[in-house]
Amino acid sequence: MKRRPDPRIYGAFERLVPIRVLGEVFEVPEGVPLIRALQYIEFELGRLRMDWSRFCFNDTIGCCLCAVAAPGGGGAAARACVVTVSAGLEVKTLPEGGVLLPPAIESAS
Ligand code: FES
Repeated sequence: MKRRPDPRIYGAFERLVPIRVLGEVFEVPEGVPLIRALQYIEFELGRLRMDWSRFCFNDTIGCCLCAVAAPGGGGAAARACVVTVSAGLEVKTLPEGGVLLPPAIESAS
């Protein structure tokens, strides 16, 4: 049985919604700050690697700068701790040091 994501990390959410990160679609919690959705992609989906110790998580030093776009919109610089996740959000660049990992290969047994 799949465990339920820890609300102490991501905050409360009702459902997962699709966002696009560097061209790939991920289902992440709706309505949470983008930085928490990026943690979800790392901790729950195993597809991202970031050094979380370098982030303030509270919009003070600009450490989470990335480029995002609303559905159908152009890209703009934004802080991942400020942007709220909604369906169709597009992340065009990750905060510095972020690496999107390839999908794990699952065995057929
Ligand atoms: S996490 Fe530091 S400004 Fe966003």
